[in-house]
Amino acid sequence: MSRQAVGAPLSRVDGRPKVTGQAKYAADHPTNGVVHAAIVGSTVARGRITGIDARAALAVSGVLKVISHRNAPKLAYRANPSSNNPEGGERLHVFQDDKVLFHGQPVAVVVATTPEAAQHGASLVEVRYDAEKPSTDLTGTPANAPVTYARGDADQAMRSAAVRLEMTYRTARNHHNAMEPHATIARWDGNRLTVWDKTQWVVGTQKELAAVFGIEQHAVRVISPFVGGAFGSGLRAWPHVTIAALAAREMGRPVKLVLTRKQLYSGTGYRPAYEYHLRLGSDRRGRLTAMVHDIKAETSSYENFEEGVLAAGQMLYSMPHIRQTYRTVPLDVNTPLYMRGPGHATAAFAIESAMDELAHALDIDPIELRRRNEPAEDESNGTPFSTRRLRECYTVGAREFGWDRRAPKPRSTRDGDWLIGMGMAAGVHTTRRNPAQARVVLDARGIALVEAATSDMGPGTYTSMTQVAADALGLTVRAVTFRLGDSTMPPTPAHGGSQTMASVGSAVQDGCDKLRRQAIELAVADERSPLHGVEAGDVAVTDGRLHVKHDPARGETYQQLLARNNRTRLEALGSFTPGEPRLSMYAYGATFAEVAVDHRLGLVRVRRMLGVYDAGRIISPKLADSQALGGMVGGIGTALLEHTVTDHRDGRIVNANLADYLVPVNADVPDVRAIYLDGEDREANPIGVKGLGEVVHIGVAPAIANAVFHATGRRIRGLPITAEALL
Ligand code: MOS
Repeated sequence: MSRQAVGAPLSRVDGRPKVTGQAKYAADHPTNGVVHAAIVGSTVARGRITGIDARAALAVSGVLKVISHRNAPKLAYRANPSSNNPEGGERLHVFQDDKVLFHGQPVAVVVATTPEAAQHGASLVEVRYDAEKPSTDLTGTPANAPVTYARGDADQAMRSAAVRLEMTYRTARNHHNAMEPHATIARWDGNRLTVWDKTQWVVGTQKELAAVFGIEQHAVRVISPFVGGAFGSGLRAWPHVTIAALAAREMGRPVKLVLTRKQLYSGTGYRPAYEYHLRLGSDRRGRLTAMVHDIKAETSSYENFEEGVLAAGQMLYSMPHIRQTYRTVPLDVNTPLYMRGPGHATAAFAIESAMDELAHALDIDPIELRRRNEPAEDESNGTPFSTRRLRECYTVGAREFGWDRRAPKPRSTRDGDWLIGMGMAAGVHTTRRNPAQARVVLDARGIALVEAATSDMGPGTYTSMTQVAADALGLTVRAVTFRLGDSTMPPTPAHGGSQTMASVGSAVQDGCDKLRRQAIELAVADERSPLHGVEAGDVAVTDGRLHVKHDPARGETYQQLLARNNRTRLEALGSFTPGEPRLSMYAYGATFAEVAVDHRLGLVRVRRMLGVYDAGRIISPKLADSQALGGMVGGIGTALLEHTVTDHRDGRIVNANLADYLVPVNADVPDVRAIYLDGEDREANPIGVKGLGEVVHIGVAPAIANAVFHATGRRIRGLPITAEALL
């Protein structure tokens, strides 16, 4: 009997092409006759373009053309509701008028025979502006009308609460900063457009380009087999994708456009900065009676970006009275977008810091406080939880982390100059699911090809889908190839929001189940098959061989079956359509951190971390660890290092590079461990997963902040927690 592929710690099936340079990322695809484009970004954040002098650029050897609003064609820019474009407002229309809406906005593009000539040309384009003073500071700028939620009477309950706390938390803007820059190659063949792009959603980019250019969706093909990290930045087709396609059409030649590291800061989205005002009331035993959340987040002046920052407050803890307001603040900046654990991670920093503050105020252990506030059902809508095992996350985490060694009093543990502290935080993320399809073909050699238009930005989609398909088809993983990243493949939702395995995995499972059943039915109806006349339900497939479940010797291989029936292939289309949710579905986690803080320098070092997750079934344990450890490392960044800094005088981002935008390096990453509660959630989807990629990130920053408090007795309510904040 072969081992099950699902649950086995498989190495990445695409590991070899990735480490040998064979994997082709967006800018790597060879395209005959390609020319190169470089964007000229605005040097003011608000105003109008009054003049563009391209003469010096055009004099550079190799420069072919400079395109701006002065000579660009008008584009259709049809509405595109099935996208991650925000619902409110309208996307940036590139080169359609003289308006400047943010610093770094593309105002021209230089096309040349080499990337160097294009870049040099771009540096020589002179743009004159009629500039106005920009507004880029979240604090003090008027907000849009709020999104609100309420149950009970939170204001009344706050007034009568025995214990009341009131805090304002602030989180910095974070940029995704994946290794691979965003890049696009665009080629027109008549009215058909082919694009090689860095994207988490080939179908989304296909639809957006069709809408922008006013052409049929199927006239656009988007190809993206490898993505070098994204964390959410590839969930929309950004203006540079349009620019590459527009330039290619103007030039009558394929165009390649690679954003510089600096341009990534204004050319794609980011996790918006937040101000999170939180009041909470409880009784003397720490039972929450009320919470009031007043939340402000930055958005652009032209689009209203909102994300799921309210959900956790409504359902993580039991509480009769709650009121929430969530206001976006339109600024002269480019539009934010989802970034790992979007909304939930920000909410967790505020809520889980506040719970730690309450625990300290009442002298209750932080885990015990959370246990006292566990809800019996989802109080936001009165539905039962499909699965919620947060209590077990606490129990396992406390045991494995050695929580009992934590002295209750802050600033009571030392190691030389270092103050030592332990902190923990809960995390919760919505279990998302969306319709998906997958095509399965089994050939006469007994080799399966499975395809879906999804992506692999790093979590290991190629590998985990191969595992699901192998088990469902009764094949070894070596006999299965999974392909993705082409809009001609069966459609899938965006590869983000921890929904890929839930959605695409379920479609793969369905397609493979269908194909296996086809083969079994063919065999049992075939007089020449050893399986003739056997009940289809009594036939299993193992290692590519169909056999009677209780009589493994009786059977035949897929190859024998297909050859005898003169079939070159079997084929099936799998699909997944989530039903109306009857239950409340979330993934949960508890994150534990131990930090050391140099009491004279304010330097924070994370010494060890542990995450314990209730994320449903784990398909691929080795890849799950990559996700969890990576999510925790990203959380260290958010907690201690990452901060996009804007100069509010001119709206310029001053640290738009990887030297000044700090991310964790190996020396910042301690002993990190992840544990997954064994189990599955059949309500969520047929394969029982709840999503892992986000929840692993969500409790990290508050766990570290709480550990810093425990180490030092200093409560830092702003991220990142820097040395200066601690001095
Ligand atoms: Mo993400 S924010 O799941 O791409």
